[in-house]
Amino acid sequence: MCPPNGRATRDDWETPLSRRAFVRAAVATGGSAALSACLGEESSLDAPEGATNPASLPDRQHAWNGSLPTDDDGNVRPPEHHVFLGLALSSDPDDAARETVAAALADVERAVERSADGVLFTLGYTPAYFDRFEPSLADAVDLPAPDPIVALTVESQVTVDTDDALLHLASDDGAAILAVEEALFGERDRLNGRSLSATLDSVFDRSTRRTGFVGPGMPADRQEGLDGIPDGEPVPEEAPFFMGFRSGFRENQATEDRVTIREGPFAGGATQHFETIALDLEVWFEDNDHSHRVARMFSPAHAEREAVGEYGEKLGTATGVAGVVDEIHDHAREYGAVGHAQKVARAREDGEPLLLRRDVNTTDGDIAGVHFVSLQRGIGEFRRAREAMLGEEFGQYGLGPRQSNGILQYLRVRRWGSYLVPPRTHRALPTPVPDGNAEPSR
Ligand code: HEM
Repeated sequence: MCPPNGRATRDDWETPLSRRAFVRAAVATGGSAALSACLGEESSLDAPEGATNPASLPDRQHAWNGSLPTDDDGNVRPPEHHVFLGLALSSDPDDAARETVAAALADVERAVERSADGVLFTLGYTPAYFDRFEPSLADAVDLPAPDPIVALTVESQVTVDTDDALLHLASDDGAAILAVEEALFGERDRLNGRSLSATLDSVFDRSTRRTGFVGPGMPADRQEGLDGIPDGEPVPEEAPFFMGFRSGFRENQATEDRVTIREGPFAGGATQHFETIALDLEVWFEDNDHSHRVARMFSPAHAEREAVGEYGEKLGTATGVAGVVDEIHDHAREYGAVGHAQKVARAREDGEPLLLRRDVNTTDGDIAGVHFVSLQRGIGEFRRAREAMLGEEFGQYGLGPRQSNGILQYLRVRRWGSYLVPPRTHRALPTPVPDGNAEPSR
């Protein structure tokens, strides 16, 4: 039957506009079997073909920026659609399973270009995955067991990701993501006209499926009827994120070099933090005017100087928060507010941001939210930034988590996970000593 949920008919599917709407619904709901029926086994994907020799692709799984377009200001433009699959091992991570995973991923790379027109992906592993091996990972990578920092965050009930792995798939073409997901899990025989020699379903079960999107107009298009957003469609038409502002400016992001592990068995990899946040934007949009929102998101000085524009269009490639970090205590005293970006910029090192953020919006469960994804060399760097975001010291000026202490008041943390994203060479079921001997200890 094609397509699912009675949301569109086969005739709708034939027109490009409805095809987009349908794919959007399918990405969000995971309607992959139905999408398969629509695309057909031979696949009508528009995705460019992949690499003749996957070994020629960058060794850094997280090296996406070079294959992504930039916006008019020169900032990297993230892919529009995202699927995050939590994976639980269903077999022992032995050599046979390792070969299966390696073959399946290389087949995807042969079938579909590694780009926003094709598909970009990373496969990361949790501390819980590595716990089954001796020796421990501890000496090789800064990846402690997840320990959510929620002390000062309101109404948060946090589930820690204890699955083994996370596959992050991203593309401007939702159909390409779904086709890759189906092919990897044995639900379609051919991907972009090629067959896969191996699939992941004999090694992993999909335990969670989260979806996201990012781009100008996308949150405004999807805001109606969501939990967490007041009536009246307050999200500005051009904003790429639900809170109404652009993000990811080039000079406020760590470079891919900066987040790459430099030495040890996983040199060329990175650590990844993945946090799901529900947004509570009633007060954000109804009780704050635009100037207050700018003060809380960027800084009170940004609000006073009207430096941001409606959704961040005035900012170009930098927020300029580094210039207002030193004034943050004065701002807390004088304005009774400090900015989110201003607070977290205090965690920079030698003036350079430590986190490469790849966060996206989500409507999973019909709740407006954010899947906050960041890459950094070690989880300790993430924690420094996350602690800076709490801004506990501003309590002395009366700025608790329910006051104008950045954007804390509007965030409800729901899930929290840490991953190692190994270099491509070690991305298939690595042991803590991928080039040497490691034994399962359980
Ligand atoms: C709903 C959640 C969030 C929203 C809407 C949000 C939004 C923003 C915006 C608009 C900026 C300024 C633009 C830019 O620099 O790209 C920013 C900067 C930043 N945010 Fe967030 N953010 C969120 C959560 C987080 C979390 C959980 C962290 C974790 C520590 C974080 C860390 C940062 C960092 C490191 C910067 C750059 C600071 C610098 O310039 O050094 N954000 N965020």
